Amino acid sequence: KLKKLKRSEDYLKMEADKQKVQCEKVQVTDSDLSEQIKAVTKESHVRAENTELMLSFQKANISLQQYKLLLCSLYKIYEALEEELDRNASHESVTPIYFPQELARMEALKKDLEHFYGQDWREKMIVPAATLRYAQRLREIGSENPEYLVAHAYTRYLGDLSGGQVLGRITQKALGLKNGEGLAFFTFPAVSSPNLFKQLYRSRMNSIELTETQREGVLEEAVRAFEFNIQVFDELQNLVNTLEKNELRQRHKTHNLETPDVR
Ligand code: HEM
Repeated sequence: KLKKLKRSEDYLKMEADKQKVQCEKVQVTDSDLSEQIKAVTKESHVRAENTELMLSFQKANISLQQYKLLLCSLYKIYEALEEELDRNASHESVTPIYFPQELARMEALKKDLEHFYGQDWREKMIVPAATLRYAQRLREIGSENPEYLVAHAYTRYLGDLSGGQVLGRITQKALGLKNGEGLAFFTFPAVSSPNLFKQLYRSRMNSIELTETQREGVLEEAVRAFEFNIQVFDELQNLVNTLEKNELRQRHKTHNLETPDVR
């Protein structure tokens, strides 16, 4: 009965989203920001998908350590992104794409980090320099060019609602996580249909009024946003490789100490 009720709730939510999309008449043309941003970041998307870290996710070849480190970096990134979006919520270029209830990831990430690291997760977090640079850039544009925030919100949130959904299912299986524990990041309880929501988001992006210079700036910033993500993934993977190498060396040493030379 509960399942049925949940399904009908989801259905009602989906219908409401559908109506919203229809009301806002989603008509996408080549001159729309949503199309331009997708076109200019196409090549960067391929590069992001093909980083060593993303490839190991796609092959379901991930370790708990990799996932935990990724969550730490994502926390720092979303903390900066969402604080800047909140601070600029009434800015004319931010209001149309401001969906904290549907999209905000900070609380979900806190929950996942607490699950894996315990209460004192903040002290245990490991954050590479590339992540700090990304967060720094988000804070900088939040103060100086809030209209660029759309480029970063697009890159992360639409990615999470696209390939991210598949990655969530892979992570769950690969790490054997039960009852959604440690997977809150991938779950969007207030978005019943990611595809419909993405349509709504694109139409809101297209309603932002930008001068030609601002539009060019936003497109450039989107490419930069992908670049930041690629750098974070590369640095995280290097860190994982080093940690694993050290662990192996340590295990080898312990093994040699425990196994006396019998010659
Ligand atoms: C869209 C897959 C990584 C950002 C998509 C789509 C797929 C996908 C299937 C839907 C394409 C469409 O609707 O036309 C993947 C896979 C990834 C990955 C398999 C890696 C394992 C990333 C990363 C980012 C990202 C790392 C950025 C940080 C986006 C964005 C979109 C998207 C912004 C929306 C494109 C648009 O409709 O404008 N991705 N993705 N993706 N992805 Fe990814």
